[in-house]
Amino acid sequence: MLQPHIYVVFGATGDLMQRKLLPALYDMYKDDEGNGPYLILGVSRSSLSDDDFRTNSIASLQKFAKLDEDTATEWANKTLFFQSIGKQQASDFEALAERLDALEAEHELPGNRVIYLSLPPSAFRDSIEHLADAGLNSSAGWTRLVIEKPFGHDLESARALNDFVHQYYSEDQIYRIDHYLGKETVQNLLVFRFANAIFEPLWNRNQIERVDIVVTEALGVGSRAGYYDKSGALRDMLQNHISQLLTLTAMEAPAKADADSIRREKVKVLHSIRELNLNDVIRGQYTAGTLDGEEVQGYLDEDGVPEGSTTETFVALRLFVDNWRWQGVPFVLQTGKRLPRRLTRIAVTFKRPPVTLFDGLGCNIVSNVLHITIQPDEGFSLGFEVKEPGSGYRVQTQRLAYKYSEDYGTLPDAYRTLLADVVRGDSTLFVHAEEVETAWKIYEPVLNTETPIHTYPAGTFGPDAVSRLTRRFPIYDES
Ligand code: BG6
Repeated sequence: MLQPHIYVVFGATGDLMQRKLLPALYDMYKDDEGNGPYLILGVSRSSLSDDDFRTNSIASLQKFAKLDEDTATEWANKTLFFQSIGKQQASDFEALAERLDALEAEHELPGNRVIYLSLPPSAFRDSIEHLADAGLNSSAGWTRLVIEKPFGHDLESARALNDFVHQYYSEDQIYRIDHYLGKETVQNLLVFRFANAIFEPLWNRNQIERVDIVVTEALGVGSRAGYYDKSGALRDMLQNHISQLLTLTAMEAPAKADADSIRREKVKVLHSIRELNLNDVIRGQYTAGTLDGEEVQGYLDEDGVPEGSTTETFVALRLFVDNWRWQGVPFVLQTGKRLPRRLTRIAVTFKRPPVTLFDGLGCNIVSNVLHITIQPDEGFSLGFEVKEPGSGYRVQTQRLAYKYSEDYGTLPDAYRTLLADVVRGDSTLFVHAEEVETAWKIYEPVLNTETPIHTYPAGTFGPDAVSRLTRRFPIYDES
């Protein structure tokens, strides 16, 4: 059961709110029906009435949450309200504070507030300062501030932003979203590793040869060039989502399953990463190509991409975690847009048997590889060697597989989980200031140096140069 509250969403007319947050909030309140009341106050610079905002949101709920019109309308009328902050002046924020007081009085709410900044980073500082000046950093109940990524664009800016926000909100009021942490399969990494005793004795440099983490996307940059071109794959995916996958894969068992204990172990992994070798970093950019039988344009021809841009749409890098568990084991991380299909997977390659009986018999014994597939077709599969039936020894790799969908159907959306955790005050799945800064620090050498940019045709698995770091294709196998 959730405590009664108001969700105040800045950027309420934007894409994230309409496509992701509204459906997630709808689901969250529906699961908690009969409790509440819960209200959503949409905030943006547009001048809309409550009714205008409801009309737009009803269309989004029909489209993205697949609600019928009557259900969407009934819910929107009792839940959604709107407040414009016009030119974002102090008086607009004072009016916002008055509106919140009035809504809370009218609906007998205790003053619990989530303030969700679904805004471009350039708008964070002003909004936070104005919010605090209008007294919106505390209330009769609790006030929590949710900040979407990107959190800074390098170590210095992340530090400055943390220091700035801490002037107005304490760390335990701040919830930095990395939506990967809301994915069931990402949370399950802890259960997989620490609720199954069979893996722990194997999970180290003695038994593991390498770890690959891949996040491939078929989508291109779409209409987001304005943001993406200043960011690139390293800032957009590697510093945050993929680093989270890395720390959850490599961390030690936490003392407890609470936010502080888990974070402590994650940060220790980040601190143990050896300084990156720039020869182990490959940046790429897609050119025109064919995806799913359709011709697609290259990055430089996408709307809004500046001429001659050298922003990477693909990055692969190899790093080492210099601690007792992992010393010498390469972790190869890669991500890119316009690759053949969407896949997020951690592939753990175990060491080959030191000698095999079968080498002399013409058999090619390969390493056992564990695939932890984060999305889509969520599940695990372990490759192992099997004797092909018949005389003599012929060996084939088969897979022992588990798929979530067979037991659990469709998994809940990451935002649904995270939005509810903010209301519960559980920060386990959110990113602490120290984590953000330490993760930026690792990638500083790459951000500060112009490394070459390789091209790859859309619809391929990235630049050829990647083969230097990784054997690509087994990782992308179907299971
Ligand atoms: C976002 C990035 O954080 O994550 C996008 O900004 C990317 O560029 C997206 O497409 C990927 O998320 P998911 O959940 O589809 O893997």
